[in-house]
Amino acid sequence: MTSSLFSGKLAAPMASKKSTARSGRFAKGAAREANAFTASVGFDRRLALYDITGSIAHARMLEHIGILTTKERDAIIDGLNSIAREITKGRFKWRTELEDVHMNIEATLTERVPAGAKLHTGRSRNDQVALDTRLWLCDEICALANETHDLQLALTELGEEYVDVVIPGYTHLQRAQPVPLAHHLLAYVEMFERDYERLVQCLERVNVCPLGSGAIAGSTLPIDREFVARELGFVDAHGKPMMTQNSMDAVADRDYIVEFCGAAALLAVHQSRLCEDLVLWSSVEFGFIEIGDAFTTGSSLMPQKKNPDICELVRGKTGRVCGNLVSLLTMLKGLPLTYNSDLQEDKERLFDTCDTVRATVRILAAMLRDTEVNKRACAKAASDPNLLATDLVDWLVEQGMAFRKAHHVVGSVVALSEKLGKPLNKLTAKELKSANRKLTAEALDVFNLKTAMKRRTSIGAPGTLELQRRLTHWQHQLRH
Ligand code: ARG
Repeated sequence: MTSSLFSGKLAAPMASKKSTARSGRFAKGAAREANAFTASVGFDRRLALYDITGSIAHARMLEHIGILTTKERDAIIDGLNSIAREITKGRFKWRTELEDVHMNIEATLTERVPAGAKLHTGRSRNDQVALDTRLWLCDEICALANETHDLQLALTELGEEYVDVVIPGYTHLQRAQPVPLAHHLLAYVEMFERDYERLVQCLERVNVCPLGSGAIAGSTLPIDREFVARELGFVDAHGKPMMTQNSMDAVADRDYIVEFCGAAALLAVHQSRLCEDLVLWSSVEFGFIEIGDAFTTGSSLMPQKKNPDICELVRGKTGRVCGNLVSLLTMLKGLPLTYNSDLQEDKERLFDTCDTVRATVRILAAMLRDTEVNKRACAKAASDPNLLATDLVDWLVEQGMAFRKAHHVVGSVVALSEKLGKPLNKLTAKELKSANRKLTAEALDVFNLKTAMKRRTSIGAPGTLELQRRLTHWQHQLRH
């Protein structure tokens, strides 16, 4: 920020001399304050290599249709490649007065290569920025999708390692029914699989070439959009080039960013819920897991503390990721067609979402690989016979009793056990019979946890065999 903006008095606007985007129309350069305010190069330079890739394809197309000579095209491509090398090495001189990544690269190229002045033929920054963002996002989505698979793998590995561990499952955060720990973990694997699919589906709509739409209304020049789409890999599974079909939509559209940020927000929410489970499980009250020292922090005051910071931060950062989605939707909702500078605000939200979610997915996978399960604490919690009260109901149903009645009978047995201060599975035959004559001592067999887990055989149930089936499924799917 220039100091004059905050100097307390209104400073006379300072004109900057260089301003390629303005050129002939303007008698004066932009005020430095205005320039600093409108410039996006501070953040959109992140798109630089994609901008260059897009420009190279555009130059090839211009040569293909006879607007550039072969020599001019090659000079442009060489110039762009050497700019790319400078950028990669951190030697490129970015200039705020040139506004954005597009102008910086084009202006520098033209200073070095006269034919650079022809590069922007049949193109506008409006279709150019859409192109760059789409190219960038395609790569980011692939990377995030792969990292999501790795997180699923880390969850599956933890499940496999502790395949025999049973814990209470919770509804309303009250003990409900026993479930293998792996079944609980695989619930997240399912969620992340849907996230993965959403990312891949979103990629289909990102992978469409907008270049050639110009500022709003295409071009009078005989540009070859298919050529560019093919050059840049905007093709479907059959190699058919994919191009936007309405020039106005193409430059106004940010659906692909919203869609990605929506998919990423849901992925973040799933991670956040996982983290909440892990925070609870790592507390002394639950004691089901111990997160490795390397992935926890201590307290500056309380020497005994080992805090699940990473989980808390993932949970906290999810707020930011959801906020980014809402910012984007709000930014778009009142915009008339087509391009408006408001759209420049999309990038920081998009970049932040990508960076945040990729970081959280990665750290969670690493943390899970350094997490141990406390089998004893889990076994103790899972031995609560109340967790199998529903199995007792099922037993009565098998004796021919109507479910509603059986539910009532077992409810009264639970009340009796509470009154007597005796666990459900320790009631005598007489006590059981006092609730209903059908309730014989044989019913107590349902309280064998191992058998109880074996009996859950329907699809998607947490039964021993069914769990094994899903573990095998995920091992296969995620490792191949
Ligand atoms: N920096 C702009 C953006 O990020 C690029 C497009 C600018 N177009 C324009 N007509 N000002 O959206």
